[in-house]
Amino acid sequence: MITETVRARDATELPETIARAAKLLRAGEIVALPTETVYGLAADALNVAAVVKIFEAKSRPRFDPLIVHIPARDWLEQVAVIPASARTLVERLAETFWPGPLTLVLPRNEKILDIVAAGLPTVAVRISAHKIFSEIISRFGGPLAAPSANRFGRVSPTTAAHVASELDGLIPLIVDGGPASHGIESTIVAVRNERIEVLRRGPITAEELSRFGTVTLAETSSQIEAPGQMRSHYAPVTPLHLIERGAAFDVPAGKRCGLLAFASAPTQSPFADVRILTESGNLAQAAANLFRFLRELDEAGLDLIVAESVPEHGIGAAINDRLRRASK
Ligand code: TXA
Ligand code: MG
Repeated sequence: MITETVRARDATELPETIARAAKLLRAGEIVALPTETVYGLAADALNVAAVVKIFEAKSRPRFDPLIVHIPARDWLEQVAVIPASARTLVERLAETFWPGPLTLVLPRNEKILDIVAAGLPTVAVRISAHKIFSEIISRFGGPLAAPSANRFGRVSPTTAAHVASELDGLIPLIVDGGPASHGIESTIVAVRNERIEVLRRGPITAEELSRFGTVTLAETSSQIEAPGQMRSHYAPVTPLHLIERGAAFDVPAGKRCGLLAFASAPTQSPFADVRILTESGNLAQAAANLFRFLRELDEAGLDLIVAESVPEHGIGAAINDRLRRASK
């Protein structure tokens, strides 16, 4: 299969690209689309054969469920069931954060395919705020299953070129909407027992969610429910070592080490390659650069990547979470 990348950033290219992507999706094909978090690999969520193609292209194990993207809020109860005890909270969260980088895990509607939910009794639902994604899903006119558009276990793609480097030849179309603005996958929460359980940290922070109720973090509970929360996730191929301060690291003799620094790097650097996430100390900028820099360092022929942890507040908690998972 030949994979074509079409750039859809300006108004003249947009209508044609949207029509083409929607047509492929309706025909049961899989298409890589930009979202505000990371690029997604989309398929008709109600078509088994189409969803199977996602698992095959990504080499994703069937036990890992997919996020269902819906065109608008009034679609929520066509894919999920909102328990009476959760309704007020779910509605407030949806009203505040949708469209946007929040995924809600709820009991699934009978329409949801087993393969999408990986046999779980729940479904993960989100509405993307990305203009191109939103136009394509509206034109398609139904729910789209869309995991991140990378091979299983690899770093999520934040540009169309990243998608091509992972899925070239396996999918017919990549819609290029420019770099993803958040650069980190959506925050996943389950609403249960009138509490907000954060299953995956992301751009919507625990601080923001705590305005709406009691927030618990899945890491503090013993059960790991989202398979994507496995520690081995989001890993570059090069070993990554997570530390507090890069300047304090002794580069082993004869080793080529790269540094992923938070806001500054030592001037007399012993590192073979250095990336600085944000010279101004801006955490949102650090998140937007994170996966791109990890990929660049991974491709630099290094023996080791040393990454500095970032301040743990705001989206910093999600960045540290991804770095911990990338480290081994
Ligand atoms: O930002 C995002 O969420 C991106 C964009 C493309 O929307 N999508 C994304 O999908 O990150 P994916 O498949 O790479 O990660 C989804 C995570 C996986 O870890 C999966 O295990 C978890 O969501 N998940 C899906 N359904 C679930 C469910 N019913 N209960 C718990 N976790 C679920
Ligand atoms: Mg993923």
